[in-house]
Amino acid sequence: KLILLWSTSDETVRVLSFLVILRLASGLPKDYTDYILRHMYMAYVRNSKFTSPSSWPLINFMKKSLVEMYALNQSLAYQHAFVYIRQLAIHLRNAITLKKKDSHQAVYNWQYIHCLLLWSHLLSTLCPSESLQPLMYPLIQITIGTIKLIPTPKFFPLRFHLIRTLMKLSRDTDTFIPVLPFILELKEFLKKCKIGNYCRQMKQILNKMEENSNFIVESRKNANFSITELEPLNQWEQKIKEQGTPLSKYYTTWRKLRDHELLHGITKKEQLDDYNLPTVKRKQIQEKKKQDYKDFKGLLEGSEDSESEDDNVRFLPKEERPLKFGFPVESTDEHNEFGDQENMKLR
Ligand SMILES: *[C@@H]1O[C@H](CO)[C@@H](O)[C@H](O)[C@H]1NC(C)=O
Ligand SMILES: *[C@@H]1O[C@H](CO)[C@@H](O)[C@H](O)[C@H]1NC(C)=O
Repeated sequence: KLILLWSTSDETVRVLSFLVILRLASGLPKDYTDYILRHMYMAYVRNSKFTSPSSWPLINFMKKSLVEMYALNQSLAYQHAFVYIRQLAIHLRNAITLKKKDSHQAVYNWQYIHCLLLWSHLLSTLCPSESLQPLMYPLIQITIGTIKLIPTPKFFPLRFHLIRTLMKLSRDTDTFIPVLPFILELKEFLKKCKIGNYCRQMKQILNKMEENSNFIVESRKNANFSITELEPLNQWEQKIKEQGTPLSKYYTTWRKLRDHELLHGITKKEQLDDYNLPTVKRKQIQEKKKQDYKDFKGLLEGSEDSESEDDNVRFLPKEERPLKFGFPVESTDEHNEFGDQENMKLR
């Protein structure tokens, strides 16, 4: 009942339900945590189907609070994340190999995207975590694979959501993730784009990126240390960050204008973020997950042992498929603004 309230009720009730669930979970015998988390995850998936500017903060709230629940037991978090991420991988592989419309739709839908965002948020938040670390590589590969599945301008909004989460993951876990190529395709788009309004904005960004690139190249030339000297290198990076680059300055100005616009548009947008969610002390669990990691290998490298998926319920493990949900392909609402400021900062 509490999970139902947490996932469907109005804001205050959602927050209270979560607090009660959290408190109950720490009091109940251990095996209940597994049960609670499974049901919360299913509720999250079910309720992220219809995404809109007004449901976005609610989904975000579920995402953040669910990660707080997972933080209670990282080895359990690993078990769940492993199973569910593997499911995502299977759908993606099917979409790549079958090349059919409905297999594409099993990936290009809000539920799939919100699952990726959830796991990415989990890895960002609980880092450094030796138990969750082995999931980094598969999750990043799946996210990149999803970006590449249908790389047409129609799906640029989807791509931006995923790039944003990858940038956050990269920053929070100190991991290099090659996202730049997916951003620079923006350049190809300009050659074909015929809609003045889009061309103008993209051109502006491209100019700033080029200016930024020149700025960095110049600063590097003037640096008086070698690339192997980590101490001065870190100082140099820190200095550049503090000073700001042409792109970051442009972004700051743009963000101010945009926030101003939004303030007069969607007022409730980030309201749920204002509640102070309790955070859970993280325990470090030492485990090696080499064997499990191997289970991903075939999937990521596109082996042939395809797992057939007849039913409509695509990315829950088989034992949990009483739920039936269809798959809306993409939101056609081009004016969605999901500016999660904290996540939007360009590096
Ligand atoms: C964490 O979950 C695992 C797997 O379900 C369980 O064996 C373990 O006892 C749990 N640990 C705690 C501290 O609840
Ligand atoms: C390198 O340049 C900085 C100023 O840009 C200076 O503070 C520092 O002492 C120089 N280091 C060396 C080794 O010349």
